[in-house]
Amino acid sequence: PSETGRVLSIQSHTVQGYVGNKSAVFPLQLLGYDVDPINSGQVLNGQQLWELVEGLGANDLLYYTHLLTGYIGSVSFLETVLKVVKKLRSINPELKYVCDPVMGDEGKLYVPPELVSVYREKVVPVASMLTPNQFEAEQLTGFRIVSEQDGREACNIIHAAGPSKVVITSINIDNNLFLIGSHQKGKGQSSSQFRIVIPKIPAYFTGTGDLMTALLLGWSNKYPDDLDKAAELAVSSLQALLARTLKDYERVGYDPQSSSLEIRLIQSQDDLRNPEVKFKAERL
Ligand code: ATP
Ligand code: PLP
Ligand code: MG
Ligand code: NA
Ligand code: MG
Repeated sequence: PSETGRVLSIQSHTVQGYVGNKSAVFPLQLLGYDVDPINSGQVLNGQQLWELVEGLGANDLLYYTHLLTGYIGSVSFLETVLKVVKKLRSINPELKYVCDPVMGDEGKLYVPPELVSVYREKVVPVASMLTPNQFEAEQLTGFRIVSEQDGREACNIIHAAGPSKVVITSINIDNNLFLIGSHQKGKGQSSSQFRIVIPKIPAYFTGTGDLMTALLLGWSNKYPDDLDKAAELAVSSLQALLARTLKDYERVGYDPQSSSLEIRLIQSQDDLRNPEVKFKAERL
């Protein structure tokens, strides 16, 4: 494994509970990264984001190995993220931009619809790794995804737009979630692809997508030529955490289907740092 790095993580913030940066920063720190969080959300607009970045620049603090972005709620903020990518790459041309194009799930958008074309036309082309869910991959490719084969084709469409690593974090097929990973090792080359099958737990969790992308960043930087292994480690950590979360709720007699469950992030630190690989990638 290579050295760890410095991550600028631009995501939403909550006081209570684990989504956005609250779900991403702690696991990256556990994996040895220095993480500087910028909290998006109601309090920050594009102009304010730029002021923060200029403040870092004035102090020579804009050397990052990675930029990570999650939920972004406005076009002005997303356009400013593009400026940030450019700025960070002018300082470190090797900067990896890991983009979770958070737009919606289960057939519904939860961001303003104008964001879709900005992601598709401007953001995806500059991302190094993209981690859409099924719905987001459909929005970005205009391609309906109902099978594993569709997922593989969507990944190839995304590679052609820019990112060399693509992970569709879940495709619902029967009662399983299929993660599809795809790594295009050189421009114009065919991609190497794999699946990880995850039995669907009958409960709804929040913050898991944000955590998944953080873990994929963390592990794929340690194993840059082995996206399969990075995804196995990320999924295995996450599933251990979800099992613990479910067990804790059930112990107090709570029905896990009655509302969304708060992940047991801090309690799962051993599983985040040192996961036992129980979920294997299968080459496609
Ligand atoms: P996004 O962050 O864009 O919403 P997503 O929809 O894939 O991405 P989640 O639905 O939170 O994000 O899923 C992320 C990961 O969390 C999945 O790849 C899976 O490993 C795990 N996961 C989430 N919900 C479940 C579940 N009910 N059962 C099993 N695994 C789950
Ligand atoms: N709620 C808020 C405020 C969020 O910002 C997000 C994602 O960033 C979510 C919920 C959903 O998170 P996830 O897809 O990780 O479950
Ligand atoms: Mg989902
Ligand atoms: Na995702
Ligand atoms: Mg999400």
